[in-house]
Amino acid sequence: FTTNSALFIGQNLVALSEVDSTNNYLKNLLTNSTPPPEGTVIMAENQHSGRGQMQNKWFAEPGKNLTVSFLLCPTFVKAVDQFDLNKAVSLGVADFAVHFLGGKVSIKWPNDIYWEDNKLGGILIENFLSGTHLKQSIVGIGLNINQSHFPQAVKAISFKLIKNEDYLLQNCLNALSVYLEARYLQLKNGALDKLNTDYLNQLYRLGVRDLYRANGEVFYGEIVGVSQCGQLQVDINNEVKSFSFKEIEFI
Ligand code: BTN
Repeated sequence: FTTNSALFIGQNLVALSEVDSTNNYLKNLLTNSTPPPEGTVIMAENQHSGRGQMQNKWFAEPGKNLTVSFLLCPTFVKAVDQFDLNKAVSLGVADFAVHFLGGKVSIKWPNDIYWEDNKLGGILIENFLSGTHLKQSIVGIGLNINQSHFPQAVKAISFKLIKNEDYLLQNCLNALSVYLEARYLQLKNGALDKLNTDYLNQLYRLGVRDLYRANGEVFYGEIVGVSQCGQLQVDINNEVKSFSFKEIEFI
């Protein structure tokens, strides 16, 4: 992976030393009279206002981690099926992590990447629609690569903490582009059964009885799947309930 062998993802690379957020930077480029080509990637050494899901902030030590945003144009995906894109992207990032770290990697719904019970990275997808279909997607990915210290309150981990070695971020980006493109092409070619099966196989806590919190209550449940619109399906005392991201918390 020392060179980028992906066909289009990552071919147009914008490398920045400092930016507010790579997602914001890419969103701005979309307003240009000639928008950037599909597969464009923005990479930053330092983001001073990195964004996570649910208005969270994303922190990373400058120069140590991957903070990147990819432009995809999934015009073949219906707005109602947009979680299919999350699945493909999550799988691409998980495949990349498995390549370096092996089998303890999983996808924590809706789109975090975990190693055992710790967060390795997160994904922030921002979709733009045209009528009933997606037009453009900004796929922001933050992965903890060479950072070795994290605040205690967050259960975070990095490639370096797991493997005790440093990684070249450019090599990581090349590999990530290849794995992401492979999953994106599966989505484009309609290989949804494969994506659904692989997503479930990689899903953190699938089929495991564990603790959750929803509506102020703590309860035991077992994740049984994810619905077509992206809701988490949890079996609670033999009754399957569906939750949106805001509604349920893993404990
Ligand atoms: C999450 O875990 O909540 C998602 C984190 C996503 C962080 C990445 S870093 C690159 C891109 N730019 C941003 O501002 N956020 C995403």
